[in-house]
Amino acid sequence: MDYQQLIEEVYQEVNDLNLRGTVADYIPELAKVSADRFGMALIDLNGEVYGVGDYQEPFSIQSISKVFTLTMVFHVFRSKLWSRVNVEPSGNPFNSIAQLEYEKGIPRNPFLNAGALVITDALTSKSENPVHSIREFIDELAGQHCVRINEEVMHSELLHAERNTAMAYFLKAYQNFDNDIQEVIRTYVSQCSIEMSCEELAKAFSYLANDGYSLFAKREILNESQSRRVNALMLTCGFYDESGEFAFRVGLPGKSGVGGGVAAVLPGKFSIAVWSPELNEKGNSVKAIKALELLTDKLKFSLF
Ligand code: DON
Repeated sequence: MDYQQLIEEVYQEVNDLNLRGTVADYIPELAKVSADRFGMALIDLNGEVYGVGDYQEPFSIQSISKVFTLTMVFHVFRSKLWSRVNVEPSGNPFNSIAQLEYEKGIPRNPFLNAGALVITDALTSKSENPVHSIREFIDELAGQHCVRINEEVMHSELLHAERNTAMAYFLKAYQNFDNDIQEVIRTYVSQCSIEMSCEELAKAFSYLANDGYSLFAKREILNESQSRRVNALMLTCGFYDESGEFAFRVGLPGKSGVGGGVAAVLPGKFSIAVWSPELNEKGNSVKAIKALELLTDKLKFSLF
């Protein structure tokens, strides 16, 4: 398979469709990104990089960071983690607080904001400097110093963090939150404000395409069974209330962020990251989803 030709074809076809969405503006700083950015990078299991468009331009990874923190915490807490966060799709938006009350402070899954806050809280219990640990971990996964925290995006989100802070208080009321709320919110917002390019993200995701062994860190990040479980969570919950649709159209485990990025893997074959800032009403990138749909259509296989 000529991956370079494949992604170039997909890129062209998606551009020709003139799909439109809306750049996220609930974090005001994110709205400053130019809407017409579009890039894609694919990395095969030989570590070969294929890229097209703005694939080397850093963007705000936002919720894609939840995969990295989940990985760090899963490695430490193993199956004990699942007493604090469930593994069910929620059918609700990423920032929904509704289920938390009648499900007694146990978030449905680690990719909803509520679940990701529990994960960052768990990480805070194990690390003296969680932001530093997250940065180091992602740099290692990508095999290069690439993690930058965009301070403007971070401060912009911190000024509008009422909803996530409310969730943290709610979790604490159910004894599912151990650390100082403001400290964990700062760490969570910092991890979301990390900027990386499609190429760096695709590299950092290689372990999930490769049974837990990272091609760039050159070590086992998760064991094979843990790696399969993270992929299962991405497939069922990675796109919130659009996870079913993503599985239906694309058929790959993946994770989106409101910066317009999507990272996905085809286990045993490749990892891929796509970025285009315009989002649909579920907060997921319109062009990135279309690109991945065309990609698996042209490949004639996905997970299924
Ligand atoms: O917590 C938030 O709202 C953002 N920092 C991240 C949300 C996000 O990326 C949702 N994904 N599509």
